[in-house]
Amino acid sequence: MLTPMRILSEQGPMRVELSRWRGRLVVVKRLRGFSPTLSERLRREAEVVRKLEHPNIVPLLASEESALIYAYCSGVSLAEALESGPLRLRRSIKILNDTLSALAYAHMRGVIHCDVKPANILIKGEVSLLTDFGFAKDLGMTAITADQTMLGTPSYMAPEQFRGIRTDPRSDLYAAGAVLYHMLTGAPPYGSQTQVLRFLAGDDHVPLAPLPSEVAHLQPVLERALKRDPDERFESADDMRKALDVMSHT
Ligand SMILES: Nc1ncnc2c1ncn2[C@@H]1O[C@H](COP(=O)(O)OP(=O)(O)O)[C@@H](O)[C@H]1O
Ligand SMILES: [Mg+2]
Repeated sequence: MLTPMRILSEQGPMRVELSRWRGRLVVVKRLRGFSPTLSERLRREAEVVRKLEHPNIVPLLASEESALIYAYCSGVSLAEALESGPLRLRRSIKILNDTLSALAYAHMRGVIHCDVKPANILIKGEVSLLTDFGFAKDLGMTAITADQTMLGTPSYMAPEQFRGIRTDPRSDLYAAGAVLYHMLTGAPPYGSQTQVLRFLAGDDHVPLAPLPSEVAHLQPVLERALKRDPDERFESADDMRKALDVMSHT
């Protein structure tokens, strides 16, 4: 028995609600109404997340025809945390570290998240958990629908993904870099949507404000993560994590 308590987010017919289930708090992602595309996306999300078991990934507890039941992660999303400005260096590094651990694990299993952004990173005390594999690409699964739908903000999206390529794990590393930039400066890279779109469309002259002086030592890690060419980025989430670790101790 699922007892709904509070709506956490609602986007079209997709609703995320805090509920009670088997004596505990859970989060239910539910499709209300009829939509073959969204119902297929929900089914895929379940299929992907079911095989991911990691301390930095929100666990799926059960799934029903049009509802996914996740463990409730008490705390705030990174998007909410960023509403009051940039985060401290230590905290930013810890959050990115957790996100990169989750990505390294998912990538090893052939899963690319494709939507790494502050709203999909949940902070629970000292630990952060990645969630929302609703756009994830499983390299081991055949594509049933060519889902080119682009939703939400392109602020954290890698240029190649903007062009419709969703088969490169390094797209998630770009997004992780953009999240780091937001945590350290208080805003995503390139500022306004117009500037972001200019960069994504191929303009290499869109200015990127440098990091504040007290975190300037992370600039090389950031620049490498945000390279337009995936070959120039870190090779893997683990490599990026190691580089971050070295840089943050210098
Ligand atoms: N397990 C959870 N625990 C707590 N809050 C959650 C959980 N899952 C999602 N949320 C909240 O609901 C929001 C939307 O959930 P998400 O899975 O990202 O769905 P959507 O597809 O609508 O983006 C998140 O940004 C977060 O604020
Ligand atoms: Mg989301």
